Amino acid sequence: MERDFQTAENFRIKVVEPIKKTTRAEREEYLKQAQYNVFRLKAENVYVDCLTDSGTTAMSTEQWAAMMLGDESYAGCKSFYKLEASAQEVFGMPYVQPTHQGRGADFIMAQYYAKPGKYAVGNMHFDTFHGNAEILGAYPVDCVIDAGLDASSPAEDFKGNIDLRKVQKIIDEHGEDSISVIIITVTCNNNGGQPVSMANIRAVSEFAAAHKIPMVIDSARLAENAWFIKHREPGYADKDIREITREMFSYCETATMSSKKDGLVNIGGLIVTRNHDFYLYSNVQSIVHEGFITYGGQSGRDMEALAVGLREATTDAYLDTRIAQVKYLGDRLREKGIPIVEPSGGHGIYVDGRRFFPQIPQYEFPAQRLVVALYEEAGIRAVEMGACAFGSKDADGNPIWPELELMRISVSRRVYTNNHLDCIANALEYIYAHRDEYRGMKMVYEGPITALRHFTAGFELL
Ligand code: F0G
Repeated sequence: MERDFQTAENFRIKVVEPIKKTTRAEREEYLKQAQYNVFRLKAENVYVDCLTDSGTTAMSTEQWAAMMLGDESYAGCKSFYKLEASAQEVFGMPYVQPTHQGRGADFIMAQYYAKPGKYAVGNMHFDTFHGNAEILGAYPVDCVIDAGLDASSPAEDFKGNIDLRKVQKIIDEHGEDSISVIIITVTCNNNGGQPVSMANIRAVSEFAAAHKIPMVIDSARLAENAWFIKHREPGYADKDIREITREMFSYCETATMSSKKDGLVNIGGLIVTRNHDFYLYSNVQSIVHEGFITYGGQSGRDMEALAVGLREATTDAYLDTRIAQVKYLGDRLREKGIPIVEPSGGHGIYVDGRRFFPQIPQYEFPAQRLVVALYEEAGIRAVEMGACAFGSKDADGNPIWPELELMRISVSRRVYTNNHLDCIANALEYIYAHRDEYRGMKMVYEGPITALRHFTAGFELL
């Protein structure tokens, strides 16, 4: 094999965006004003922003150049046809309906595939589909493998896989026609950006076909999932990433996408399908909720950038850099003994709040306390994915606590250097050394809807 010294990022930096330092005293004040909910912080007061990897991507020169070609015609613009061709190449499916972002696609998909009184099963549904399904009176159920629900379980290649025995149990108990749709989210955002194997996608598809249940893929992070298949699943090492994505989608009827992740753009979404009936349905839904069929809420220049972004994201050069950077952060945290979900995921590192702060019970929001501590100490903003975000209530208003209690440190695409990631690791090392000194939090305000309290809640420190 040829020696390879060309191991750095697959890009160089052309435009920079200054970031501001703040003092600890200032951050304490900002946190107080925000009632300890980092969604309420002003972004300019954040030093390294790891709240989300969604819509935060730095676009390439090719994408910015393409934007100048944006055709802003209301109907039939050139930019739509470029996007359609690019999506067909990546998904291998014929019909493409743009939407303003992923949740627009979720909404339309849920209207068609989720049915009142029926189950909508998946590995782990993302909140926006979950919410849409609940509003429709459907029952969204997560059927991820057990290892995916245990933040301390040892590393395993495909923790996003669906456990078909759990799906079979629903059929055994409620009948074959009790499930209206199976949705696989790639990668599985809620448990660590963990991938789903091709074997599992294939097996779920065969199961769905045998029971005449349509299968949908929520494909926000489709390129990262394909990279993991290439590098972890036997038989895929020599395949082109786009060959892998096309095989992934050959097993489903429909895909939704938040393009703000692996579309490498700041806004946008997609519905891609081989079901002509659903395509016609999504055209009409788009006209009333999103925009005319050939723009669906995106401007011509948005679609130009997405057409290029989808192709860039599905290359080895881009993905090797991307996944290596997330792994870099995981490696630094592991070296420092910090309890993370293993292995490193595709779009971020998830810290286990339970093991980090064992003295804080879940009802006192340990992962949220860690989010607050990280901002307090270093001006770094992560996000809670635990008791606040995924907690719910039973019919009598009693709290139901989720299995996972995590802090997600999302890594934006092509935005930060490894020096920024070192700051995160150093700050967490310091907090971990002082972990015994922390107490929990009390939620003093929830907001009108429990399922959305993540964004609205207010806390006090105990
Ligand atoms: N599906 C998945 C798997 C997602 O992660 C998201 C968004 C959506 C759908 C909705 O897409 O934001 O474009 O409307 N996830 C973001 C996050 C918000 O931070 O993980 P959207």
